[in-house]
Amino acid sequence: MTEQRGNWTSNAGFILAATGSAIGLGNLWKFPFITWENNGGAFVLVYLVCIAAVGLPIMMAELLIGRKTQKSAVGALREAVGPGWGIVGGWGVLCGFILLSYYTVIAGWSLFYFSKTIGWTVGGFPADMQTGDLFGTQVSNAGLQLTLSLGFSIATVAVVYFGVQKGIERIAKLFLPILFAILVLLLVSALGMSGSGEALGFIFRPSFSELEPGGVLEALGHSFFTLSLGMGAMITYGSYIDRSQSIVKASAVIVVLDTLIALVATVIMFSVIFSVPGMEEQVGGSTVGMLFISLPQLFYTEVPFGTLLGPLFYVLVALAALTSTISLLEVVAAYVIDEHGIERHKATILCGSAIFVFTIFAALSFSDVPLLATMELFEGKIGWFSTADHFVSNWMLPTGGLAITIAAGWFMTREATAAELADETAPGWFNYGFWRFFIRFVSPLAVGAIIIAVLFFGVDFS
Ligand code: PHE
Repeated sequence: MTEQRGNWTSNAGFILAATGSAIGLGNLWKFPFITWENNGGAFVLVYLVCIAAVGLPIMMAELLIGRKTQKSAVGALREAVGPGWGIVGGWGVLCGFILLSYYTVIAGWSLFYFSKTIGWTVGGFPADMQTGDLFGTQVSNAGLQLTLSLGFSIATVAVVYFGVQKGIERIAKLFLPILFAILVLLLVSALGMSGSGEALGFIFRPSFSELEPGGVLEALGHSFFTLSLGMGAMITYGSYIDRSQSIVKASAVIVVLDTLIALVATVIMFSVIFSVPGMEEQVGGSTVGMLFISLPQLFYTEVPFGTLLGPLFYVLVALAALTSTISLLEVVAAYVIDEHGIERHKATILCGSAIFVFTIFAALSFSDVPLLATMELFEGKIGWFSTADHFVSNWMLPTGGLAITIAAGWFMTREATAAELADETAPGWFNYGFWRFFIRFVSPLAVGAIIIAVLFFGVDFS
């Protein structure tokens, strides 16, 4: 016998949970870095267009499939679109499984830096501290990596264990306001720094001559990742919405908040970096560089009140990551609960443990354990960590996203989708015909371009 499915207790609870899924390492870690690499301005503008033209319509499509069927990814696609479409849901569940297996490792780093920054705030920042070396030592320390990622995985399981209302929604209602408050505090402090003007110019003044075609694709690829699309997370969260809530309004709020937070995080980081002469040259090169090498040092040497803001910043990263990892685990757990009739508590522990087996490999990808660190699965990609990231970002999210646009745009009838979107809950500004045009033509073409670029032009989003 399957237990009664959960439901969000309120519209605000659902929006906070879905926004929590969207806001994550993608906003704080990946977006600032790709903005940096692509010279800001024009890239940011293109990103905003991708979010509005591709991300928003697909967000509505996923939520509507979930709300309509009240089922998790596999069952929802099977029921809303057709019997064979369960496979697309299964692809999403697999994607959630793989993505979670390495996401918790990066999330674990935020715990490490939180404890380090607390230590520096209390005991002082060591004069000879080389944060680059510190990063290298911590990632290669097998025991530490396992402990951190295990800690994060347990926290994730603990939330999902208590279910939609008592776990996921409650944590989102508690953590998201804290996250917003920390960001505002950091923003105010960053805007007061000498580099803030330059940072704002870099981010918001478009110069199209500096944008390369690869940047457009990168913006598109990232819009999936950052909005948690293409793998059924929003279908699953959508399946707990009741029919009195508007999908259109919710999608708009989630997308705007996610984008706003990515931009605010970027303004904060760049203001700090531009305030320090010579820092620009040092930052480039790697995604981890900015968040885990440059910033920890800058908080203690340059940022006003950095000794307070430093630990707060890493709490922010950890909270943002946790509200995303719970949505990833929920996709997998909800599938097991709905399709295999396993009770939630058991299902959560089972899925969490199975995923952690792969996390072990991800956590040891940079370690001094020779066999694991040198295990090359793709040319030039070392270990499970990079392999999984490569596979998810380049293949799984875009193909899953393409399948969902085709499902909602071409396989579901106009009546079926209109009944969910253009019902009495829809806001006045919403135009159904517009959405249908985007989901049928614009989104599939754009996502198709990503897949072609990966297949034929060797573009790598990971
Ligand atoms: N959106 C999350 C982020 O920006 C990542 C994520 C992707 C979470 C897919 C759930 C599902 O970090």
